[in-house]
Amino acid sequence: MTRDHTRAEPGATERRITGASIRLDGVAKRYRGQEKPAVERLDLDIEAGEIVAFVGPSGCGKTTTLKMINRLIEPTEGRILIGDRDVTDENPDRLRQSIGYVIQSGGLFPHWTVAKNVGAIPRVLGWDRARITERTEHLLDLVGLDPDTYANRLPKDMSGGQQQRVGVARALAADPPVLLMDEPFGAVDPITRVRLQDSLLGIQQELGKTIVVVTHDFEEATKLGDRVLILSEGGHIEQYAPPAEILANPASPFVAEFIGSGATLAQLTLTRVRDVEHEPVVTASVGEDAHAVLERARARGHDRIVAVDARGRPRAWPTLAEVATKPQISDYIDGRLPVVGEASTLNDALDTMLAASQGGVLVTDGRGRVRGSLRIDTVMAVIRSYTAEVRAEDDEPSYVSHTEGSADDGRRSS
Ligand SMILES: Nc1ncnc2c1ncn2[C@@H]1O[C@H](COP(=O)(O)OP(=O)(O)O)[C@@H](O)[C@H]1O
Ligand SMILES: [Mg+2]
Repeated sequence: MTRDHTRAEPGATERRITGASIRLDGVAKRYRGQEKPAVERLDLDIEAGEIVAFVGPSGCGKTTTLKMINRLIEPTEGRILIGDRDVTDENPDRLRQSIGYVIQSGGLFPHWTVAKNVGAIPRVLGWDRARITERTEHLLDLVGLDPDTYANRLPKDMSGGQQQRVGVARALAADPPVLLMDEPFGAVDPITRVRLQDSLLGIQQELGKTIVVVTHDFEEATKLGDRVLILSEGGHIEQYAPPAEILANPASPFVAEFIGSGATLAQLTLTRVRDVEHEPVVTASVGEDAHAVLERARARGHDRIVAVDARGRPRAWPTLAEVATKPQISDYIDGRLPVVGEASTLNDALDTMLAASQGGVLVTDGRGRVRGSLRIDTVMAVIRSYTAEVRAEDDEPSYVSHTEGSADDGRRSS
């Protein structure tokens, strides 16, 4: 019943790491005129190439801590190291050029085109134009935006999710080792949020940055974080551990309460789409002869095909009956296509199926190329296996065994 495999990288033995470690050494922040410190005294080590999610109730000091890392807020005490570099007294402007920063609403300059926004820091750094253009195109592609379509758009002509993608591209422009994100997906709808999260995980899989992401949503923290830092008021560390460990062994009653009684469902956030069995799909390109596609699909016993674009990204998921109504595969794009990334959680997959009223979702890789499909039966089988495990286990909240003598107060009746 070990679930260790659920956090494993897909087949990756050696992941490229371009990130730098971060160390907070006795860092504290007292705002002028405030009686209590926002952050009392924080010691924290973040490993290079990891995503760490800061989570905790509003006002506990997440944003303050994050902004002390790039010195948008000056610490009152303590030291901050990035890699081997003590940046506590470094010129803050220079420092911020080596740290990407993404905020909730994208923070784009509204009168600048996408390309100009993404190239902002490279321009400050004096890169030549050709290099900036090349970098901008590369980054837009990386975050899933077609450069030809979007480079010259203004932010106002894009959706919130697209603006947020541009925000990520801009933060990565100068290839910083560290990326800081403050509730980056807080302002978008749930389906878009899942896609942005998947996209971030795909990017991280390629780049291996060190990413600190603030969220108030424990589910988001468990999905994104290699480690999760749970803070309580005053920037007090309640627990700092991989999500599976937090779920299995909440370090304090505060943590147990914070993660709530939905621990079984939270397990679903630990299992990734890539960890469970996929069904293969038959793909077809726009303009392909429908008859040939139908033959191909029937030969393999499929009742649907996936129409894909030139890059292998899904456009529609028609039944064979629908395909048969046209001589060729049409260029129709289904705006409500149920799609999740391989890094998505089973919870995301379930939500997406429910939202689309379909018994399955398409599964895409980090670049959005279709890899297969996932059926609701598969997800339900995993849920059933968890429920069976939970029933077989002792029902006591596991933190009880760590806090000597304290009895089950019945808070987590199940
Ligand atoms: N600029 C500021 N001036 C005074 N107090 C602040 C300022 N920013 C934040 N605080 C206070 O510091 C504490 C931590 O805030 P913050 O870091 O924004 O928390 P979080 O991001 O976890 O919601 C809160 O009590 C907040 O009211
Ligand atoms: Mg905040």
